[in-house]
Amino acid sequence: MAILVKENGRLFQLQTRDSSYQMYADEKGVLLHTYYGKRIEAENLSDLIFRADVGFSGYPPEADGDRTYSLDCLPQELPSSGVGDYRQDCIRVRHEDGSRAADFRFAGYKILQGSLKIPGMPSLYDTDKERGQTLVIALKEKASDLVVYLYYGVFEEENVITRSLRVENCGKTDIVLEQCLSLCLDFQFGDYDLMTFCGRHAMERRPERNRIGSTKLEIGSVRGTSSHQYNPAVIVCNPDASEDFGDCYGLCFVYSGNFTASAQQDQRGQTRVVMGINPRQFSWILKEGETFWAPQVILGYSDCGFTKLSRQYHRILREHMCRGKYKSKKRPVLINNWEATYFDFDGEKILNIAREAAKLGIEMLVLDDGWFGRRDDDNSGLGDWYVNEKKLEGSLEELSGKIHDMGMKFGLWFEPEMISEDSDLYREHPDWALQIPGREPNRGRNQLVLDMSRKEVRDYLFERISGILGSVEIDYVKWDVNRSLCDMYSHALEKERMGEIYHRVMLGIYDLLERIVSGFPEILLEGCSGGGGRFDAAMLYYSPQIWCSDNTDAVNRLDIQYGTSFFYPVSSMGAHVSAVPNHQTGRTTSFATRGHVALSGSFGYELDLGRISEEEKELVKRQIAEFNRYYSLTHEGDYYRLEPPGGRFNAWEFVDAGKNHALETLVMTSAEGNPLPVHTTVKGLDPRKDYRCLYNGQVRSGSTWMNAGLTLDQVPGEYESVLIEWEAVEK
Ligand code: GLA
Repeated sequence: MAILVKENGRLFQLQTRDSSYQMYADEKGVLLHTYYGKRIEAENLSDLIFRADVGFSGYPPEADGDRTYSLDCLPQELPSSGVGDYRQDCIRVRHEDGSRAADFRFAGYKILQGSLKIPGMPSLYDTDKERGQTLVIALKEKASDLVVYLYYGVFEEENVITRSLRVENCGKTDIVLEQCLSLCLDFQFGDYDLMTFCGRHAMERRPERNRIGSTKLEIGSVRGTSSHQYNPAVIVCNPDASEDFGDCYGLCFVYSGNFTASAQQDQRGQTRVVMGINPRQFSWILKEGETFWAPQVILGYSDCGFTKLSRQYHRILREHMCRGKYKSKKRPVLINNWEATYFDFDGEKILNIAREAAKLGIEMLVLDDGWFGRRDDDNSGLGDWYVNEKKLEGSLEELSGKIHDMGMKFGLWFEPEMISEDSDLYREHPDWALQIPGREPNRGRNQLVLDMSRKEVRDYLFERISGILGSVEIDYVKWDVNRSLCDMYSHALEKERMGEIYHRVMLGIYDLLERIVSGFPEILLEGCSGGGGRFDAAMLYYSPQIWCSDNTDAVNRLDIQYGTSFFYPVSSMGAHVSAVPNHQTGRTTSFATRGHVALSGSFGYELDLGRISEEEKELVKRQIAEFNRYYSLTHEGDYYRLEPPGGRFNAWEFVDAGKNHALETLVMTSAEGNPLPVHTTVKGLDPRKDYRCLYNGQVRSGSTWMNAGLTLDQVPGEYESVLIEWEAVEK
């Protein structure tokens, strides 16, 4: 049983294969958080809470004068707000009389079979093979008719617990939610580090690790997208945790808009971690009977380091978040024209790229930005989703037909959520753009943002996009979003509700995505936001792959793909071989290395094939063969980070489920005179099996390989790379 209930329905324990999560509704009705960690028996652990009369930490009326019972010190599932817990709160409300207080008490529970489907938002789903369970705990606000339902899902095999919540106004008067975070995780004992994944456009998701102390650590986004700058997934771990050692807790937010995640120790050294929608510029009016859903957080636990934690996230996201035909179907090797042509193309140029690509075995051509409206640079045309037949020298149908005749699939770029001022759409509907009356808006890439909260805007986009997808044979869509949001004002929303606009826009985006995905289930969607500006678990619900970064430099990609791998599976990372000198960094790396790095992702090319040598063309064929040969390893196998970026070389590895086949990629990142040897480890083999290493033909036992490792017979030069394979052999 994944959900255990004891002590007259007041002790709750969520059990996964290796972890336990315990809560206890105490005699005062406060829902205490009593344990999260390695799997244990369901024994009430509320006695581990040490109570003392802590000066300046008061006590609620039910404590009946017991000064040791303070909300300011107790570990809680849903901390109160404004009534004496001075630490970080989750739900902040304003009542009709202007007071700001929320104090929750246990009001019952029920267990639902199956996992929770949050209306209008992505969440983990059940598969035929695995069905989760959901525990719902109701908490009533003490002095008003506000009720909060906490939803806990359990995915036993992946050691994953989910949490989300719903707030319902069961009273007659309006309530304003001023903050509604999804999760509070309290740790009573121990010191912890917080790992975050931070960066910037073209340098996303670099791990950063800080000790959690009294100074609050906080990351978040108010950009309207999950952002390049801070990813909505964090790890809380023991200070000495490493890839294979230590307690690690993952918090992965299933949301693509504004978020916050923070961690802080309180006055008594207890750690509180919270995650949810960023309260900045947020408020939400709840009228009688109305509800608000907070997005899901996927909690993961590993008792032995980051590798196991990551593997659990890879599995749960691949199996229970990604959907559609391409969830498990092999993705086509693509060529994208962006870095080959930018806006400067016509039909013939695109066909030439396709012809070359088809000869080399590339399976799909993706036509990027510039095929619609009047769009020859990034200053105009967004919103006018009409084919520019003059530029394409024919219809899109003809172009797609010719490409399909070459035996290739055809993909198309869209940026639905944006509008250029220089567009027919803007001239017709200026009020469809988000902008504050009387205030000149900020531009980003010279574009404004469409008010996706409005149904008529979404209907227009659906009509345009589905018109194209329905009439032309299109196999893939790249869904881009190329600026951060600001100047938030909807011309269609009552002014009291303007604090709802960020979230309403996000819900609108999910609505349109859902309509497209369910209307065109055969199409492979690739998410994108100037590369990886919206790389989050929620987007994987619609697009099983996301363009990892606009930076295609193989050496920078080592860092970017490494950071991304802590939560997101390799199958979700769009990775392409591009031209050198690299357009973002000016660096030159070999064609082979660019291929090896991109092989650890959703593979493709993004260069002018007319400009590469015959030798490189042969390499393209070889790389595609390698990609196909290793596909099930890289896209379904277990992933191991062997050597992090920053050293002399970077290495990572894949092992198949049966532990019969392993592949290591090693890339040198520096060069030295009189070089020291390159010795590498290998992980995840079966210690009892024998394996042949195809690099040197040696046969050794799995335990020997894993403990003694391999020394390369030559030290590769700077930016050179090697693929090393192990195959199980009969004893
Ligand atoms: C973004 C994407 C690129 C490309 C351009 C087109 O920057 O990340 O891959 O599609 O937009 O404008």
